[in-house]
Amino acid sequence: MSELVFDDSEYVTETLIIDGEELKFRAFENIPYVTNPADAELQRINLFVPEVYYKGKCIGKYSINNAPIFMPNTVGGYMPGKLTRPGVDWQGKANTIFKALLHGYVVAVAGVRGRGMTNEAGEYIGVAPAVVCDMKAAVRFLRHNADRIPGDVEKIITNGTSAGGALSSIMGTTGNHPDYEPYLNAIGAADERDDIFAASCYCPITNLDNADMAYEWEFKHELNDMTDKQKTMSAELAKMFPAYLNSLELKSKNGQVLTLDADGNGLFKEYVKSFVIKSANRQLDKGEDLSGLAWLIWENDRIKDIDFDRYVAFRTRMKKTPAFDNIAMGTPENELFGTADIKERHFTRFSCENSECAGPMAEAQQIKMMNPMCYIRDDKAVKAKHYRIRHGAIDRDTSLAISAMLNAMLDEAGVDTELFYPWGVWHSGDYDLEELFKWIDGVCK
Ligand code: DHB
Repeated sequence: MSELVFDDSEYVTETLIIDGEELKFRAFENIPYVTNPADAELQRINLFVPEVYYKGKCIGKYSINNAPIFMPNTVGGYMPGKLTRPGVDWQGKANTIFKALLHGYVVAVAGVRGRGMTNEAGEYIGVAPAVVCDMKAAVRFLRHNADRIPGDVEKIITNGTSAGGALSSIMGTTGNHPDYEPYLNAIGAADERDDIFAASCYCPITNLDNADMAYEWEFKHELNDMTDKQKTMSAELAKMFPAYLNSLELKSKNGQVLTLDADGNGLFKEYVKSFVIKSANRQLDKGEDLSGLAWLIWENDRIKDIDFDRYVAFRTRMKKTPAFDNIAMGTPENELFGTADIKERHFTRFSCENSECAGPMAEAQQIKMMNPMCYIRDDKAVKAKHYRIRHGAIDRDTSLAISAMLNAMLDEAGVDTELFYPWGVWHSGDYDLEELFKWIDGVCK
């Protein structure tokens, strides 16, 4: 494995001034993290370190030895996650990496494969579970070089948004699980552990094989611009969700089983609503006037409840039925579940049976490897100790049930998890970095 030895003499030192803040850092870039890459250009890792650490100095309580390693991914839409570096974001503001370095973290960014990628033979090389295996291989590379890498490899914190948030949740829940081993061997990943310390997940687009049902459970009354067939499918999928949800036997913190009746009402719905109510009350605490929102139900100047259907109508539907496994294919997820030779496949029995293109079905194992829910109760998966899940209160890319189910199952597993639906936030991430860093500093104490 000598190829995977980190050479700490290969770097450049740079100074960047953004928004009036100066950052001096060491950049170790474009380091291959596997010996047998499917894409030699992409499967590389960048490592950035605050320069003061090399002068024996600290930033807050962090030093070159104990700084957490922050691992943001750039995955969106299940497309390839490209390598990035400190600089400005699309709005011209200091990006997350810049701010994380200023805060004292070591930052590792891995390029990871995604849908649509092909090799010279025309084979699709980014289908599931490539994205997960690449991220795991990058973590293994860091561990393999624990003595040479600045920072603490036992304090790796992944971060991502949407498909990248899903990736972060999978990284947190599947540590060292044997399912991924053959894929990691194939790309020549280091023989190391790949469990992580903590996962930050912004609006994870995950639990894909159940996301269509969850979406209709939530948006079943929002049927504008849909065909009769889509409306029928919406009703069918909405009806299927309670059976799935009840099969999970999720419990609330006080031990109540979170169930749904045939109409989709019950304690699980109250659980989802509780996060909206919490978010609204926090907004009141900040002094915002919420009196214009007719779906809020008040008691003594506090929000006591919400009218769920009116709240959903306020947000509106974004995706037509089925939201993820389209019966005519064409979604990011259909492509994610392709093979080397087949561009798109179904990943739900419902859409496969209703397919308008006689689309083939993905293997159960491939679908499983993209679903964190399938590993939380599996002792062979080493779980991250801490999770921070954020799902904007006006996000419509997936049902709020998705993050709620994830949070409830993690809670039950005895790990530390914190779900919040930030007020007025749509499908996005990294909008509260100060709070994110405070959380990281707290869990790394
Ligand atoms: C993303 C958004 C989606 O609506 C989706 O279905 C998959 C991925 C994203 O932003 O990453």
